[in-house]
Amino acid sequence: MQGHRRCLKLFLAFALLLLQYAKGGEVDHSQKDTNVTRRCKERERQALLAFKRGLVDDHNLLSSWSSEAQKQDCCRWIGVSCSNQTGHVVGLDLSIDVLGGFDILRGMMISPKLIELQHLQHLDLNEINFTGSQFPNFIGSLTNLRYLDLSSTNLGGKFPSQVGNLTNLVYLDLRAMFSIGQKPLISFLN
Ligand SMILES: *[C@@H]1O[C@H](CO)[C@@H](O)[C@H](O)[C@H]1NC(C)=O
Ligand SMILES: *[C@@H]1O[C@H](CO)[C@@H](O)[C@H](O)[C@H]1NC(C)=O
Ligand SMILES: *[C@@H]1O[C@H](CO)[C@@H](O)[C@H](O)[C@H]1NC(C)=O
Ligand SMILES: *[C@@H]1O[C@H](CO)[C@@H](O)[C@H](O)[C@H]1NC(C)=O
Repeated sequence: MQGHRRCLKLFLAFALLLLQYAKGGEVDHSQKDTNVTRRCKERERQALLAFKRGLVDDHNLLSSWSSEAQKQDCCRWIGVSCSNQTGHVVGLDLSIDVLGGFDILRGMMISPKLIELQHLQHLDLNEINFTGSQFPNFIGSLTNLRYLDLSSTNLGGKFPSQVGNLTNLVYLDLRAMFSIGQKPLISFLN
């Protein structure tokens, strides 16, 4: 058990290093492009709105996520980041750090429409309480994911072997995702 923990820590530290390296690379690359595409893709906007419908936003944290005319550009929505080159959504980070303060989102389900975000590299839903709703198996088709944090999301169901399909992952955090008694992460890393 201890050995496994240590392995896991090493893995995560290494993952963070790699991630920072990758980030550095991206910035250099973007400087080649003069015309910055910001406007988000309609399909991806719809997918994000569908995803929002699976959340409970008691404190109106996602007020920027709206269909109003002046809020059409989903690349400007809180927690959403788009590629400067392609305009595709590449990041979705709804962790407390991003949303600010103590109020948090709750969740009913992770909408399957999320798979429309095929260019997604970074997904962080840390601390959103999905009250035991089924782990989204379709996550396995988001093959561009490099960073996946679903820790403390209270997702349920069987351990998602589909995570094994995410061959680009350099950071994975599923701590406290399942109810106590299961130990999925350890067996996965073996
Ligand atoms: C995209 O452009 C914005 C504004 O110029 C910049 O702040 C951001 O770092 C860029 N993102 C990437 C991934 O290069
Ligand atoms: C940038 O790209 C957009 C969309 O392709 C285009 O409408 C716009 O004219 C371009 N702007 C410049 C300065 O090239
Ligand atoms: C998640 O929500 C459920 C249902 O509201 C609640 O029973 C549970 O305590 C919550 N879990 C956490 C960690 O807050
Ligand atoms: C994951 O990969 C397996 C083969 O390794 C494949 O059979 C399965 O359909 C894939 N699942 C998803 C959700 O991509």
